[in-house]
Amino acid sequence: MEKQKSRVLIVGATGKLGHELAKASLNFSHPTFALVRDSAFADPTKLAKLQSLSEAGVTLLKGSLQDEESLIEAIKKVDVVICAVNSTQILDQKLLIQAIKKAGSINRFIPSEFGLDPDKVQISGMDYNFYSRKAEIRRLVEAEGIPYTYVSCNFYMSCLLPSLVQPELKAPPRDKIKIYGDGNIKGVFVKECDVAAFTINTMDDPLTLNKVLYLRPPGNVYSMNELADIWETKIKKKLQKTYVSEEELLRIIRETPYPDNMLFVFIYSVFIKGDQTYFDIESSGGLEGTQLYPHVKYTTISEYLDTLV
Ligand SMILES: NC(=O)c1ccc[n+]([C@@H]2O[C@H](COP(=O)([O-])OP(=O)(O)OC[C@H]3O[C@@H](n4cnc5c(N)ncnc54)[C@H](OP(=O)(O)O)[C@@H]3O)[C@@H](O)[C@H]2O)c1
Repeated sequence: MEKQKSRVLIVGATGKLGHELAKASLNFSHPTFALVRDSAFADPTKLAKLQSLSEAGVTLLKGSLQDEESLIEAIKKVDVVICAVNSTQILDQKLLIQAIKKAGSINRFIPSEFGLDPDKVQISGMDYNFYSRKAEIRRLVEAEGIPYTYVSCNFYMSCLLPSLVQPELKAPPRDKIKIYGDGNIKGVFVKECDVAAFTINTMDDPLTLNKVLYLRPPGNVYSMNELADIWETKIKKKLQKTYVSEEELLRIIRETPYPDNMLFVFIYSVFIKGDQTYFDIESSGGLEGTQLYPHVKYTTISEYLDTLV
């Protein structure tokens, strides 16, 4: 007999990743619940998302990360909790963690991370505590003994890839391109719906219990020089390349006001320091998603760039 599919609570289903998570959870036939704030129903865009999720089979539960009673009620209905709140709301997960601890019945908690590994980034002091907040949540989850998986998916494809890592542009360059550093350090881009599919696949997997699931799909790991080469082949044109040194990038970060400078901080972290790829996944105790779940089809960078030609 087939094992019963675990029941999943998504916090943040009106958001970018949370919406993908709710859809992926349904696609993989999990009974799916979404914790939704009252205010979301008053926003027409969010309401449309909620209606489509509800029609597809998601059970909407009213509540909020600030309302412990609503959290406990929601947690009682499920086996797995996935949180996808925004990077500015990371510490708001503390009450959720307490509620999960109190309930004592959750088999897996996936906190809101979905980026670089906060324990591996080498840019402390530069990121306005972006990563230390995510690391603080990790430590709390571990201290409470809550079963977890952390998903380190690296960059979403919607982050920087549409402009080929040119923060000042909205579309990929057609004439000239700025390459940060020597252009040889590799970064990773994964489409949001694919991040969601890998996340749903890992939440019941004993192999990833209390581990980090990294996404480094073959075909999605490239340096800036390689990205420029691929794009040149697609548009059948050579780009004029300007190399921006580490010192120059640090000057841009210093002179650009927060939060506009964060994209440059991410570029520094990934394409100068190599924070997405400098470490070996296996020897750091993590697992890689495409190796664990080869049945999950994902969009490669080349396929994504085809849509921009
Ligand atoms: N790797 C990358 O390139 C990348 C890029 C962007 C984001 N991320 C990461 O992805 C994760 C999700 O970010 P996102 O951009 O998808 O978020 P988002 O679109 O801003 O969505 C946030 C969601 O959280 C909900 N929420 C906020 N406060 C809440 C509360 N108190 N109670 C219940 N729900 C609450 C919001 O609901 P309402 O509708 O009620 O506001 C919304 O559904 C974050 O960890 C972020 O750092 C990664």
